Amino acid sequence: MKQAAILTYGCQMNVNESAKIKNILEKMGYGITEDIYASDVVFLNTCTVREGAAAQIYGKIGELKSIKRDRGTIIGVTGCFAQEQGAELIRRFPAVDIVMGNQNIGQIPDLLTSILKDRKNPVVAIQDENRLPGETEADFGDGVSASIAISYGCDNFCAYCIVPYVRGRERSVPVKSILKTAEDYLRKGCKEILLLGQNVNSYGKDLGDGTNFAGLLKALGRLPGEFLIRFVSPHPRDFTPELMDVIAADEKIARCIHLPLQSGSTRILKRMNRGYGKEEYLALATAFRQKIPGIALTTDIIVGFPGEEEEDFLDTLDVVQKAAFDNAFMFMYSVRRGTRAAEMDGQIEEEIKKERLRRLMDVQNRLSKKSSEAYQGKMVKVLVEGPSKKNKAMQTGRTSTNKIVLFAGSEDLKGRFVNIHIQTCKTWTLYGNIT
Ligand code: 5AD
Ligand code: SF4
Repeated sequence: MKQAAILTYGCQMNVNESAKIKNILEKMGYGITEDIYASDVVFLNTCTVREGAAAQIYGKIGELKSIKRDRGTIIGVTGCFAQEQGAELIRRFPAVDIVMGNQNIGQIPDLLTSILKDRKNPVVAIQDENRLPGETEADFGDGVSASIAISYGCDNFCAYCIVPYVRGRERSVPVKSILKTAEDYLRKGCKEILLLGQNVNSYGKDLGDGTNFAGLLKALGRLPGEFLIRFVSPHPRDFTPELMDVIAADEKIARCIHLPLQSGSTRILKRMNRGYGKEEYLALATAFRQKIPGIALTTDIIVGFPGEEEEDFLDTLDVVQKAAFDNAFMFMYSVRRGTRAAEMDGQIEEEIKKERLRRLMDVQNRLSKKSSEAYQGKMVKVLVEGPSKKNKAMQTGRTSTNKIVLFAGSEDLKGRFVNIHIQTCKTWTLYGNIT
């Protein structure tokens, strides 16, 4: 049996698209492996959101080149970096056989057939990114969790971000199609549905028929059975009171909201084109904490955006402390060619970015630790994901607030909701006993 490997970089949208690639390759008769050295086909599903993500790809293509020399492996590159580079990628890396955009996954059978017929001519398939891609089934294995792309692309044009340039304008998937996909996953035993979009809570605006994210959540919440609904990423500007009420009223919606802050300085937020200021953001975080007691808030933060002064950075630290995030993804600003921020005055030195990131992480790590410690002695409901990788006798799962929990238990608990009494709290993991 021919073997294929898919290496995934970047965000959950890429994880979702890799699950679709996997399904297509399996239907073509390939066995799926994680071992690129034993593969006849390797797809790299790439990211370009920060410079570091792209640099990783160069290294991987170099490694694949030598594997190709030994066993003739076909190298396919897809995802945002491929979408951004197009045919240029073949000029830079002649070992690459297939360059394929995010929208072209459905064409994999044709592309592979054509490359097998003529190994000398690489193929490039980059579709107009402003269409809704054809529906493709995804294979999440026997996973407890499955994701559904509810919208593609983004209309925000935050000044630092490359996404609108590679993934095009926002296009929403019709509610009916999302409900059908969700029902299929639930029928197969999934207990967690992760809704994906570059801006999930502006979902439906482009459909122009009154469809909105609150309505979609309500409809999904009505599906039978016990399961969790999560979503990433919402935009703080697009939370309506109606949406907050829907979230508050439905326990099926996970008690963890990702609220990307990016910066705590109103001045920098304006330069970023984020559409909210420091005080508005804090008011939103407070409203969530008041409306939904026990809710976890997580965030994304960029330090060293062009023009960021010490005073602006102190505003970010201030918001972080006041919002008391349970967890945060923290990044140094990375120049992306073609974005507005790349042309801005006041680019910040690497050393200053590093120093600010260190200070921010210090503050946030203390908050994350404190947030975990609040679970000491508590009883929590956990969705079991399966055995821990390090110790098979331990099961791992997550709370609705997205805390990772480890406990001793048998493998057949996978996919069940269990009650765990928390005994020990580390910053990133809680340990407890099943009751
Ligand atoms: N530099 C650094 N971080 C970025 N992000 C997006 N673009 C950039 C960039 N140019 C971060 C944002 C976003 C997350 C997915 O990546 O915080 O929310
Ligand atoms: Fe995901 Fe954005 Fe990276 Fe593309 S560029 S993989 S959308 S994070």
